[in-house]
Amino acid sequence: MSLVPDLNYQDVLDQIAEEIAALPGRGRSADYIPALAGIDPHRFGMAIADLDGKVYGVGEWQTPFSAQSVTKVFTLALVLARDGAALWEHVGREPSGNPFNSLVQLEYENGIPRNPFINAGALAVTDRLQALTGDAAGTLLEFLRAETGNCEVGFDEEVARSETANGDRNAALAHFMASYGRIRGPVPRLLDHYFRQCSTVLSCADLALATGFLARHGLLADGSRLLTRSEAKQINAVMMTCGTYDAAGDFAYRVGLPGKSGVGGGIIAVVPGRCTLAVWSPGLDERGNSVAGVAALDRFTTLTGLSVF
Ligand code: DON
Repeated sequence: MSLVPDLNYQDVLDQIAEEIAALPGRGRSADYIPALAGIDPHRFGMAIADLDGKVYGVGEWQTPFSAQSVTKVFTLALVLARDGAALWEHVGREPSGNPFNSLVQLEYENGIPRNPFINAGALAVTDRLQALTGDAAGTLLEFLRAETGNCEVGFDEEVARSETANGDRNAALAHFMASYGRIRGPVPRLLDHYFRQCSTVLSCADLALATGFLARHGLLADGSRLLTRSEAKQINAVMMTCGTYDAAGDFAYRVGLPGKSGVGGGIIAVVPGRCTLAVWSPGLDERGNSVAGVAALDRFTTLTGLSVF
């Protein structure tokens, strides 16, 4: 008996889209970033990329959208690739149990963020990437364009401006960490790179491809190595435990895959050794995760049995 099913990904995606058809539109588009608030929550797309980079999709799987915090996975990988475990002296890897933009734990924990996927942790990671490369946002963009083969992947300057204009909470997090000596570069420059990073626009197809190195145990699309097998495992583990904020327990229970969400309504997920998934639907639940996106991933693992458990 084979425990690894022989799957037709296109059939699976078509079935998922049919089963969750009533869900896009539930929840609310992120309203704390005015440039995102007007996006219709009924939109939906989903893509699967296999290890060879063949992509399957349903709905609006080729439509670019605001990746937001999904990009935190890529900046983390780019720092680990350059600086290895040194990062973990600056950022923890425990779930926070708090909303993604919370300040409260930082003071108790001496300015060291709980994990790289809450905003404080992501700011610390982007600061490291800036120190290592001199251009954090540019390094991210170069990586994404190379892995997707899509030179149109870029930043949405309107979204970046909108976030800058409404970025008091992130500015507070960055200045607070700087007061503990935990940020190397000037805070205004860090915020500029962080907001451009969040404003990255790419499609489900692009995101599924860009995440491929986590399914290939650290290997990039061209077969070269970005991360050690162990580092790829570490990122997948932190995605599982911290990738969906204070809903990570529920996400692990329902989906059972490493995943990372963003307030643009995107979620990426990894089946190590097999494939990557990306889903987009802008309606968010109260904890900032896409309602239809989580449901679609839940259906994927239920229909296929492909979870890490
Ligand atoms: O830092 C922020 O507020 C956003 N630009 C990123 C938000 C996001 O997706 C975080 N978590 N969902």
